[in-house]
Amino acid sequence: MSFRFSRRILLVLLLLCSLACDKDEDKGTRGTKDNPWVIGMSQCNLGEPWREQMNKDIEAAAKKHDKIKVVFKDAQNDNDTQRTHVEEFITQGVDLLIISPKDTGLTKTVAEAFDKKVPVIVLDRAVDGDKFTVFIGGDNKVIGRAAGDWVKKTLGGKGKIVELRGLMTSTPAQDRHNGFREGLGDGIEVVFDAEMDWLEGKARSEMESALTRNKEIDLVYAHNDPGAHGAYLAAKAAGRAKEIKFVGIDALPHEGVRYVEQGILAATFTYPTLGPEAIDTALEILEGKKVPKKKTLGTRIFTKDNVAKGGEDVK
Ligand code: FRU
Repeated sequence: MSFRFSRRILLVLLLLCSLACDKDEDKGTRGTKDNPWVIGMSQCNLGEPWREQMNKDIEAAAKKHDKIKVVFKDAQNDNDTQRTHVEEFITQGVDLLIISPKDTGLTKTVAEAFDKKVPVIVLDRAVDGDKFTVFIGGDNKVIGRAAGDWVKKTLGGKGKIVELRGLMTSTPAQDRHNGFREGLGDGIEVVFDAEMDWLEGKARSEMESALTRNKEIDLVYAHNDPGAHGAYLAAKAAGRAKEIKFVGIDALPHEGVRYVEQGILAATFTYPTLGPEAIDTALEILEGKKVPKKKTLGTRIFTKDNVAKGGEDVK
């Protein structure tokens, strides 16, 4: 190798190293008003009210701290897009990643970020394994069981019901289903059971099939409020809404709770948006504090009897 050639290689190497060092130095001084920590927030789908609220809550919580800045990306319900978004955040050198994944299909991507020493907070839908920093979610098993229990009591232990499930590759749908069946017991017959993928439109069309096939339906349990509302709209169009009770989950003040006030839903259960907790936890991690691997939040039930006083805690 000629002297001039090897000198050129050396210069290129020095330049690359100084760029990398600059980036790390810049990262090291972050966490101030002038140079805030950058948090990448990967949302799986902003087309649903609960997720829109989650982003708003994250933004509001982050605004209280000038040492952090949050950058949002919306994967529009597509796993490949969400993978790309996470990779972009890592390449851009974010200090911390918050991800609310579409489903367990994001496991590998989250693990790769974690392996690259980027702290990762996973919200709501879990990934497999333990390659993430913290998981924050509601207790969907408890919610499902409480819903099953409430349905059993409300129907006096017998009747015909429909279950409209969320995306079954996501953990909340699995837990809301298993918990519900435990709480429900044996006396009540599930006459129709379908996946509506968390979407109001799909719930409505599944409910149209349920109504055509079943002359008697006493109650619909949907894994979220958009699903319960979609089922209600189908029953209303078929002139059967008055004979059926509708139960959902999420209880956003401007969605599920309002439906209960309007007499559209018989019950809904709070699913906290997890936004404020995500920002508190992000700050703890960035400030070098020790955080637990899992944080689980509670739920409340809203029915016509307790909605005026703000619902009741579920034990
Ligand atoms: C929104 C949503 C919520 C639900 C949560 C479960 O995408 O379907 O309605 O509670 O996700 O993961």
